[in-house]
Amino acid sequence: MVSENTLLQIVYVSSLTPGAEIDPTAMLAKARRNNGRDGITGMLFADGKRFLQAMEGPLEKVEATLARIQSDPRHRAMVVLSKRTIAEREFGPWEMAHYHRATDAEFVDRVRQLTQAAAPAVRATIEGFVTLRTEVRS
Ligand SMILES: Cc1cc2nc3c(=O)[nH]c(=O)nc-3n(C[C@H](O)[C@H](O)[C@H](O)COP(=O)(O)O)c2cc1C
Repeated sequence: MVSENTLLQIVYVSSLTPGAEIDPTAMLAKARRNNGRDGITGMLFADGKRFLQAMEGPLEKVEATLARIQSDPRHRAMVVLSKRTIAEREFGPWEMAHYHRATDAEFVDRVRQLTQAAAPAVRATIEGFVTLRTEVRS
């Protein structure tokens, strides 16, 4: 049943637009401010070229935020890997945790489970994140 308390979870990948520049500090500050306001939490992985983001929160807020992110010209080729309603948040309480490398095993396992049915190319993208080694959290 969809009510105003319904929580939506979305996981997507995208690629940095060639030639685009993203100031990660400014981008995260804005994302965290907006997400805090909207009750959205999640994680963002970035390896300099690609993004893998999980977002959770009130359905309408997550939809609106995804629409804003999708129309952001700094990245492109967004593929939503998973979109589902959830009973409880599964990716932690952070307004937007940021990883430069995807070595957080719990996160990676969760994304793998969510994307078991995804196309091979999508799974390869995820594995590409996973095989990177050094984690830096900020
Ligand atoms: C990879 C990526 C992830 C982003 N994540 C978020 C996010 O979690 N929350 C958010 O509000 N904006 C996020 N943004 C920024 C949005 O695209 C957009 O610039 C911003 O939401 C506009 O906010 P404003 O209308 O308050 O200026 C992200 C952008 C990129 C490229």
